[in-house]
Amino acid sequence: MYVYLNGSFQQADEARISPMDRGFLFGDGIYEVTRVINGHLFRLEDHLARMDQGLAGLGIELDADERARIPELHQEILEKNNLTEGQATVYLQISRGTAFPRTHGFPLPPVKPTVFLSAAAFVPHTGLHDSGISAITISDVRWSRCNLKTVNLLPNVLATNEATKAGVGTALMVRDGVLTESPNANVFGVIDGVLYTYPVSHYILNGITRMTVVEMARDLGIPLREVAIRDTEVSRLSELFVSGTTTDVQPIVTLDGAPVGDGRRGPVAKALQDELLKRFDRGY
Ligand SMILES: Cc1ncc(COP(=O)(O)O)c(C=O)c1O
Repeated sequence: MYVYLNGSFQQADEARISPMDRGFLFGDGIYEVTRVINGHLFRLEDHLARMDQGLAGLGIELDADERARIPELHQEILEKNNLTEGQATVYLQISRGTAFPRTHGFPLPPVKPTVFLSAAAFVPHTGLHDSGISAITISDVRWSRCNLKTVNLLPNVLATNEATKAGVGTALMVRDGVLTESPNANVFGVIDGVLYTYPVSHYILNGITRMTVVEMARDLGIPLREVAIRDTEVSRLSELFVSGTTTDVQPIVTLDGAPVGDGRRGPVAKALQDELLKRFDRGY
């Protein structure tokens, strides 16, 4: 498998970063994961716009030539790994770079950011999309800049581990009495025929799939309110699902041991799943 690291394609097991890389020492970096269907990077422009916002949010500056190369690097990593047919994902990570000595402050003068890409074949979880999964709720202990897609993923890792220990597929995080998102996806629920989702804010990542779901709901005539679902409203939900680059539209049919609605995938999730597949085919 080839990866891209700081200017060249290399075999993954030969690629090396310094232990002084600030991504390693501080989680001082951002990442993106983009879905690929037959060589086409789905909504790459939106991923790169979010990447730019993340870099600006962290004050990491790529030089103009390197920034201009990022889209073609996505294509090249697919070609290098023979992943232009079928489905795949491309992972991009940019850290502030390598600096001695280890201090919290930004290196002065700034150092060259570390740029890393990898790609892997991807198999969608189609069976789970039909059957739905179970979930637990868990306290959202993350910071208040969740809009930045940083590599500081420890709360997400621990929440996922709690879900695994509970024998369920994911965890839905609750902050101030409302559902925010899962460790790797945005959350949507249906109450009285209206689709609800947490509004764009610093407390969630505005998922590219979330944006797509919002557009699809509008185009399909599904009423949507960007208003968070209260944990006290869970018993009123007829449907619950999460959306993400690797989860697609994933129904949740049991929450904290109780069925959601009739305990099966509902019509809103099904309509959005079907529409998402159409958009994957058409490419946007
Ligand atoms: C916390 C969180 N929320 C939402 C998402 C979904 O974002 P996207 O649809 O861009 O994959 C992710 C994706 O990794 C995530 O980590």
